[in-house]
Amino acid sequence: MVQQAGANVIAMAGKGGTGKTTLTALLIKYLVSRNLTPVLAVDADANANLNELLGLDVDMTLGEIRDRMKTETPQGMTKNEFMELHINQAVIEAKGFDLLVMGQPEGPGCYCMANSILAQVMEKLARNYRYLLVDNEAGMEHLSRLNLRTIHTLFVVSDPSARGVLTAARIADLTKALQVEVGQKVLIVNRVPEPVPEALDEHVKQAVAQTDLVFGGYVPASQEIFQKEMAQESLLELPEDTPAVKKAFEIFDKYLKK
Ligand SMILES: Nc1ncnc2c1ncn2[C@@H]1O[C@H](COP(=O)(O)OP(=O)(O)O)[C@@H](O)[C@H]1O
Ligand SMILES: [Mg+2]
Repeated sequence: MVQQAGANVIAMAGKGGTGKTTLTALLIKYLVSRNLTPVLAVDADANANLNELLGLDVDMTLGEIRDRMKTETPQGMTKNEFMELHINQAVIEAKGFDLLVMGQPEGPGCYCMANSILAQVMEKLARNYRYLLVDNEAGMEHLSRLNLRTIHTLFVVSDPSARGVLTAARIADLTKALQVEVGQKVLIVNRVPEPVPEALDEHVKQAVAQTDLVFGGYVPASQEIFQKEMAQESLLELPEDTPAVKKAFEIFDKYLKK
């Protein structure tokens, strides 16, 4: 497996609504419960909502800091120092993990330098953590801003449909254009009805045969996750013996064990 100094990077990919953010929250729960800490979670979706699933409030996003850097860096301070100072302040500290929110992508104008400083500061920050989790949006645009050299594990999340699984396979291929080394790409099919339909199994087998994805497993459609979402409560509170949590943890155990 590919290694780099600093945190092990785990990223989520998949089309909208498949369960990336839900699984990111469960992955945080997993890493914290197994003492695989400290963990830095990065919400890289422009419509950030990971914090809600974790019961946390957000004051400042990386996008806002990047904008402010352009006009607000005081005399006698480098842009690098400004960015580092504010990013450190923007880190939301929770029990066993921290959260950073990337926020809106840049507007018109030149952001090359700002993005390159952002990537440098993030790389330095990530050295303080054992795991860096990136919850992406479908396009994975923010992922390229972070300029990661290596992703240890990319979880590609799919809904339980023939087209969904095909899309997951396509998304797994997309990462080839990102110029980032990916250690393993693991397919998770989420919100699956029980028993698992045979036809779905066939589609999964085909997707795995045609790509460099390995099949991580099925996570069942979960009444408990649904209820937490409805009550707007943190997924971190779900008991570990909740079937969907158990399945997700089994997958994490298998692919994140060193
Ligand atoms: N296994 C599951 N069982 C029940 N509901 C789920 C499950 N996984 C996700 N959901 C629900 O599906 C919706 C989309 O999930 P989300 O994690 O926000 O997807 P994404 O981040 O990929 O857009 C949310 O309302 C979430 O609560
Ligand atoms: Mg999401």
